[in-house]
Amino acid sequence: MNIPSEVEIIEVGPRDGLQNEPNPITTEQKKELISQLSKTGISRMETASFAHPKWVPQMADSEEIANYCNELGITYVALTPNAKALERAIQVKAPQIALFIGASSEFNKKNINKTTSESLIECESMVTRAKDAGMFIRAYISMAFTCPYQGHVSFDEVKYVCDRFVGLGVDEIDVGDTNGQANPKMVYERFSRLRDLYPDATYVGHFHDTEKMALANVIAAMQAGVTKFDSSIGGLGGCPYSPGATGNVATEELVNMLMRMGCETQINYQELLKVSPFAKSLSSRV
Ligand code: HMG
Ligand code: MG
Repeated sequence: MNIPSEVEIIEVGPRDGLQNEPNPITTEQKKELISQLSKTGISRMETASFAHPKWVPQMADSEEIANYCNELGITYVALTPNAKALERAIQVKAPQIALFIGASSEFNKKNINKTTSESLIECESMVTRAKDAGMFIRAYISMAFTCPYQGHVSFDEVKYVCDRFVGLGVDEIDVGDTNGQANPKMVYERFSRLRDLYPDATYVGHFHDTEKMALANVIAAMQAGVTKFDSSIGGLGGCPYSPGATGNVATEELVNMLMRMGCETQINYQELLKVSPFAKSLSSRV
């Protein structure tokens, strides 16, 4: 079995974990979560989203959160769904951004009010602008396996978005099982084909745990050579425009599994376990 000696785990709890939470979470609680996570050895986190506050109200305080992350001196990622969001991220000096486009056009219309082709066009100028600002660019292919609106998502739809991201020269391509319906066979096959087509791209696996296959999907992606994974403390999470989807794979479960297989994450498992109850206390779902 292909188990790498080390993987990078990117914590997405403060963003993906909280964005869909119906109960208000105060800015102070979010800061506390970020502060606690920053002491566990996690080197990179998604903490902010410059989505329109009407579309994702829970992330409306992202400017203040970004300023806090700057004060802490941590490396963080801010979600930027459009050019206006990117300008907000530049304004607060966010070091890393995340573009996100679904492989499914039906999802894109619901999630970002554009078709796949329209959002890819907007991405071109965004990438140029973000590179000029010296930002690291992660680019999500969401709904890369199935979609709650259109059902099956073909490999060609994934390839279409991936091809454009590779051409734009983004820093990493994050392949998302947004609704948590992928299985290990699909994951292995899709990542293997992407790697064959674009061997120099850096891939990240982003698995929601709706069907309790997220850990198995991590193992499957590793067999295809993936060494970077997103996870969320306490298994928090969900996308407001992905009905029925639950949280991401829990960071503590992922670190525990990798640790037992001798795979280094640089994260202190015992410290992580201390943060999980606080993270869960913020959620009405876990
Ligand atoms: P829109 O309504 O189509 O925007 O929203 P618009 O371009 O028509 O503009 C309407 C007004 O909003 C204008 O103001 C704009 O200036 C303003 P007006 O001129 O009328 O006064 N506006 C903004 N204001 C603040 N921030 C902005 C912004 N943009 C326009 N960024 C938009 C388009 C993309 C903004 C909206 O659809 C949106 O925010 N979508 C984001 C949805 C989202 O965040 N979903 C969850 C994240 S995706 C996810 O979870 C999946 C992921 O985890 C990976 C995975 O699991 O696979 C990443
Ligand atoms: Mg997600």
